[in-house]
Amino acid sequence: MSINHKPIRSFVRRERRMTKEREANFQQLWQRYGLTIADGICDARKVFQNQAPIILEIGFGDGEALLTAARANPHHNYIGIEVYRPGVEAVLHALEKENISNIRVYSEDALLVLEKALPDASLAAILLFFSDPWPKRCHHKRRLVRSLFIDLISNKLHRMGYFHFATDWEDYAEHVAKLMQKDTRFACCVYDCILYPRPSTKFERTGIKAGRGIYDLVYSSI
Ligand SMILES: C[S@@+](CC[C@H](N)C(=O)[O-])C[C@H]1O[C@@H](n2cnc3c(N)ncnc32)[C@H](O)[C@@H]1O
Repeated sequence: MSINHKPIRSFVRRERRMTKEREANFQQLWQRYGLTIADGICDARKVFQNQAPIILEIGFGDGEALLTAARANPHHNYIGIEVYRPGVEAVLHALEKENISNIRVYSEDALLVLEKALPDASLAAILLFFSDPWPKRCHHKRRLVRSLFIDLISNKLHRMGYFHFATDWEDYAEHVAKLMQKDTRFACCVYDCILYPRPSTKFERTGIKAGRGIYDLVYSSI
């Protein structure tokens, strides 16, 4: 499937320069754990050498939730997508140090990875935790969850797969609830239906510290 989407980016590249040593480390570890759209459609059985269910986390930041989940659930495979390279490097480092074999990462725009690299009906779950809220009204169009995104995840989840969205911005939660509730491809679920509880993340703690509420929304693909 190909969707022509306008290049409205949901992220700004906040690159912190990595030291030469970290950059070299990145390049070396990337050979082992990195995936790219240029390689074509991802064959997860070949990549992970097993047939375990695949869970995708989009915008994993420094990888706290991704690593916690993958450590706790060795019988699931995880694919992470993040454009923030120092965050990707932190995950690559942990994979190597702890010998974690059930995570692979993309470092490209998630919309493109979904569209071009992940097979339809291939994912057991898609996780989107504390996605950039773009709180100003004039920036709402940059929020990742919009109709195009929902079309993509609907195609990539397998039947009864679920989408877990968490945010500390009430109006973003309302926006997502509104879009998902009218979408007949999904059913709203109770939080208990998810395979594993959501690990805490840095941006969740920032939200709590700022006095904001935390909203977890879960939808199952029908
Ligand atoms: C607010 S941070 C949250 C990070 C992490 N999930 C957490 O809860 O701590 C959002 C992250 O999503 C990433 N991101 C935003 N849009 C993205 C996209 N289209 N593709 C890949 N990553 C994206 C950003 O680089 C950023 O690191």
